[in-house]
Amino acid sequence: ARPVTGPLLGRCPIVPVVVLADAADALPMGEALLAGGVDVVEITLRTPAALDGIRRLAALPGMRVGAGSVVRPDQVDRVVDAGAAFVVSPGTSAAVLDRARARSVPALPGVATASDLMAVVARGLTEVKFFPAGLLGGPAAISALAGPFPGVSFMPSGGLDAATMAGYLALPCVPAVSGSWMVAPELLAGRRWDVVTTEAARALRLAAQ
Ligand code: 3PG
Repeated sequence: ARPVTGPLLGRCPIVPVVVLADAADALPMGEALLAGGVDVVEITLRTPAALDGIRRLAALPGMRVGAGSVVRPDQVDRVVDAGAAFVVSPGTSAAVLDRARARSVPALPGVATASDLMAVVARGLTEVKFFPAGLLGGPAAISALAGPFPGVSFMPSGGLDAATMAGYLALPCVPAVSGSWMVAPELLAGRRWDVVTTEAARALRLAAQ
């Protein structure tokens, strides 16, 4: 069993990342993820449908919906008003973190360097997103960066899939991985909810090994 870490990571080891083209897909996608055992989802603010999708998923019992690609403090307000339970950012922004704290939602800042980690740790945060994980050097990069930062949990994101996720989860400082593979745009466009469920369940099984 993985240690429960901060407010976000440590509960579900898989965090699906969604670029939502159509808000009408949000509920069936959320139900498909829940059927596969995954009870968390991150909707990125990269499409016009994102806010409405967050609103719909916030009404799905048992699902924790967060907002991703949050880069400005006004977006924190918009997503929290829509029902987001957490915010994820590609990088570290004091303004975003301040607003998230003011709105009492956990925030997962993105880090890529030791300087980013120093800024995050100075604020008392213990959970970060490592992005873009694949390009930054994968599990070996996290392993090296984690050395001076005991107590920090990393959620790698960017370029992961079912084949590479286990290498990250083998690190004690990685309680969860994130990625879009089980909710890929083509699966959503094709309404392949059965595949979403299968892929979510497969990822959870791999994480449990
Ligand atoms: C993202 O910000 O898009 C996430 O890091 C997911 O990346 P992926 O699409 O490569 O899984």
